[in-house]
Amino acid sequence: MTDPRAVRFAEIDLDAIAEATGRVVVFVADSGKLDQLARRVNRLTRGALERLAESEAFDKLGEGEALEMAFPTGLHAEALDVVKLNRRPTVAEARKAGGAFGAKAGSDEVLVLAGNIRLVEEIALGAVLKAYDFRDHKTGEGATGTEAPPPFTVMVSKREDAEAAAVDVAALAAGVFFTRDLVTEPANVLTTTEFARRLEALTDLGVAVEVLEEPELEKLGMRTLLSVGNGSDSPSKVVVMRWEGGGREAPLALLGKGVVFDTGGISLKPAQGMEDMTMDMGGAGTVAGVMKAIALRKARANVVGIVGLVENMPDGRATRPGDVVRSMKGDTVEIINTDAEGRLVLADVLWYAQDRFQPAAMIDLATLTGAIIVSLGHEKAGVFSNDDGFARAFLDAAKTEGEGAWHMPLGPAYDRLLKSEVADMKNVGGRWGGAITAAQFLQRFVKGETPWIHLDIAGVASTPKPGDIAPKGPSGWGVLSLDRLIRNRHER
Ligand code: BES
Ligand code: MN
Ligand code: ZN
Repeated sequence: MTDPRAVRFAEIDLDAIAEATGRVVVFVADSGKLDQLARRVNRLTRGALERLAESEAFDKLGEGEALEMAFPTGLHAEALDVVKLNRRPTVAEARKAGGAFGAKAGSDEVLVLAGNIRLVEEIALGAVLKAYDFRDHKTGEGATGTEAPPPFTVMVSKREDAEAAAVDVAALAAGVFFTRDLVTEPANVLTTTEFARRLEALTDLGVAVEVLEEPELEKLGMRTLLSVGNGSDSPSKVVVMRWEGGGREAPLALLGKGVVFDTGGISLKPAQGMEDMTMDMGGAGTVAGVMKAIALRKARANVVGIVGLVENMPDGRATRPGDVVRSMKGDTVEIINTDAEGRLVLADVLWYAQDRFQPAAMIDLATLTGAIIVSLGHEKAGVFSNDDGFARAFLDAAKTEGEGAWHMPLGPAYDRLLKSEVADMKNVGGRWGGAITAAQFLQRFVKGETPWIHLDIAGVASTPKPGDIAPKGPSGWGVLSLDRLIRNRHER
């Protein structure tokens, strides 16, 4: 488990700056004007900061970007990070500025000279999120279990105000880290059983957790979900997590695809890059991260998280192309391609969620299609919905949080591509518009009156390049946006 680094706010103490070890972070506005703390650093470094602020290199920096001065004269610190930031940044700029020094922090002591810059809590969150470093399977120096890095110390003019603004930072960071850890874990470690065990640990935070095992899933008739796990030695499971902070309101349901490994099954994937399919439980991982975050910050909302945990393996008992299975809803599906398995898992999870909880609205998350990566790359998730107002609310939340999201279409012409000769539908709609036909498949398991959003996160759950507030790899995309949506919809 990766613990987010702690954040400690301290009163301004000009004498502590020269003595600080490790790294010192100072902010300078585009104008080059120095605040009280920066002036102190400038005096200690005998004018080096001012020279840097007037340099062409500083001029070329973007808002929230940093230059590093190594072994600065006049400071004990080994490095001075000079971050370009105006005093009234946007949330995204503040987080990026945090990310700029969080990326370099390693396990060093870090003293952040924030003074009276606004959104200091967002700067702190950006730094903590960017400093994510999964060490659980390393041995030797820096391995998990050895000494934790010290807290980030943030020097501010009004300590109590900063502390109040930052109360949720630790909760959000813990939620995002939970998601990233789950997405990073290899499939021999994060089996369906281990995944369920880690979700059961949320009980300690006040989340009610139930694990439905195969015999129960059989009884419920979840045959499309079970058909995916047929070839695996790991038992298929559905985990239900309930957070009840909102009194008697109908819950928001968050549903996740949790394919702990996707070989493609009998429709086997090519070897090249198959190892990336350890992240095919990203939807379930995001649901888990949101549940953790809202439990830690004690959200005044009712949210039920339901994840389908399965492994898609080829085997003598595996589902074959051409097999016909019956869903919990009762509709039958001709499985043309066993690699289009995520939709089979979600079909039953969607139906179960509506059947049992009558949710006020539901959102599913899934690393569902390669086609969404062709459409939107690794920058934005695909947003599909049967309710424009609901979609708009999500897109607004994602925009505030700086998480890329793009509204995609649905329509009857796409739905018709799922027509089967032998069953009620087939599980693939052909090559073109593959992310849309996948969404159409899911919509067949959504009752008309339930507002629903499907998020195809195949491109964003894990990214090949670092982001502003994430290293490369698992991003935790969606935890912040969904937390924001819950605040906006339920807690205002
Ligand atoms: N898990 C994959 C989608 C995926 C691809 C996620 C790349 C992350 C990165 C999904 O189960 C899948 O295999 N989809 C197929 C569907 C096709 C067979 C209709 C695809 O996208 O190729
Ligand atoms: Mn697949
Ligand atoms: Zn998959």
